[in-house]
Amino acid sequence: MCCSSGRQRACCAVPLVFLFVVIIFGSGVLLTIIYWNVKEAELQRKSDGIYIRALVDAVNNDPMNTWKARWNPFGIRSPKESVSFNRNATELRAINADLNKMFSSDEMKSHIKQLVDFNDSLPSHFDAREKWPLCRSIRNVPNQGGCGSCYAIAATGVASDRACIASNGKIQPFFSEQDVVSCCSVCGDCSGGDPIRVLHYWTTQGLVTGNRDGCTPYSASVQCGTPCSPANFKPAAACSRQCQSIYSRNSYEKDKNFGSLVYTIYPRTMNIDGVGNERVLLPSIIGHLNISNGNLSEIHNVIKKELFLFGPVTIAFPATEEFLHYAEGVYHPYPREDDASRIVYWHVGRVIGWGTEDDVTNWLVVNSFGQYWGDNGLFRIEADLIENWGLEFETGVV
Ligand SMILES: *[C@@H]1O[C@H](CO)[C@@H](O)[C@H](O)[C@H]1NC(C)=O
Ligand SMILES: *[C@@H]1O[C@H](CO)[C@@H](O)[C@H](O)[C@H]1NC(C)=O
Ligand SMILES: *[C@@H]1O[C@H](CO)[C@@H](O)[C@H](O)[C@H]1NC(C)=O
Ligand SMILES: *[C@@H]1O[C@H](CO)[C@@H](O)[C@H](O)[C@H]1NC(C)=O
Repeated sequence: MCCSSGRQRACCAVPLVFLFVVIIFGSGVLLTIIYWNVKEAELQRKSDGIYIRALVDAVNNDPMNTWKARWNPFGIRSPKESVSFNRNATELRAINADLNKMFSSDEMKSHIKQLVDFNDSLPSHFDAREKWPLCRSIRNVPNQGGCGSCYAIAATGVASDRACIASNGKIQPFFSEQDVVSCCSVCGDCSGGDPIRVLHYWTTQGLVTGNRDGCTPYSASVQCGTPCSPANFKPAAACSRQCQSIYSRNSYEKDKNFGSLVYTIYPRTMNIDGVGNERVLLPSIIGHLNISNGNLSEIHNVIKKELFLFGPVTIAFPATEEFLHYAEGVYHPYPREDDASRIVYWHVGRVIGWGTEDDVTNWLVVNSFGQYWGDNGLFRIEADLIENWGLEFETGVV
């Protein structure tokens, strides 16, 4: 009634605006609910075996495809997967400052000079296990079990390999991934983390021995499957800073081994505040050489020289639904279209070599899903994916 007379228009504006707000807000809520329901339904569909079996068959039935899949009952996506870890912006800023300082050191300059000056032709295939047969850690295939520790396993693996290589096989460490997930909170935890921060921890706090009979053995259970779903990841054991009782060789402090120089090979950023408002570009070899926008074969060559001369490096890449069922060959997302929608999580592995098929380079990578997953625990991945995904490569020297 109020709206029937022009003179009273002002009074009707209030209920009209109110109605308007209710409609807008209400439909917003409704759309959000519909969106989440659609998303939930999509995840439910993907968490039943039928969807994944069809994807596995599609991979295997395509004669042009470069890799084969093997159905893995644990490779089903869980509708309840969330990955988050605490970030301490103060500590992350300090790590960033440290990485920049290390990158401008004389030791780093001489390292880069060795890479640039090395101009022998590189082989079409390389396997670090054959070049450094004395170093057992290179052949080690870990199983992360019920902990999202891939980043710690890959980085401590790289540190172990490089410590052995630099000592010419005199020391044979298997550095402790448990020390990292339990004691380095800025590195990450059992819901993920960052390999460059683990390598940085190696230079500042050092790494103790791990494996079964070292100072700090790996404690996550493997009973939840291979690979365990992130929905089953358990928090890391508390940090104890004491060696297990059967390890009598050293105290925890004396057992620490230190790296001297760690660095990023391929340009990447680091998220400082956890929400992405503060991101820093880390110094990198390829960035420094000004070839990051350039030519893929030049970029691959820098990484190859690093592997060939100094040993393994880490690789970070998006693990898609079909990747969990990899059996052999050169992996790339299948189908290539819409791969982002199939990412289960970002994953980290340890690159120990490369191959070349039809002029395309692939990296030979040790995964952390145990020796019965994939190709005896390893996989090959198309190196050109660097162009789509900006795969991260990191390492350090002793
Ligand atoms: C972040 O790290 C700094 C330096 O180690 C420490 O003083 C501070 O208490 C930490 N903040 C939080 C919220 O943990
Ligand atoms: C390769 O490097 C060596 C020394 O590092 C240098 O003497 C030689 O000229 C270089 N060759 C080419 C083709 O750049
Ligand atoms: C890369 O480019 C920057 C700025 O253009 C320059 O300062 C630097 O010297 C270049 N580095 C190399 C290795 O050429
Ligand atoms: C990329 O670099 C390689 C080696 O430096 C060179 O042979 C090749 O011609 C370059 N390709 C392009 C497209 O620039």
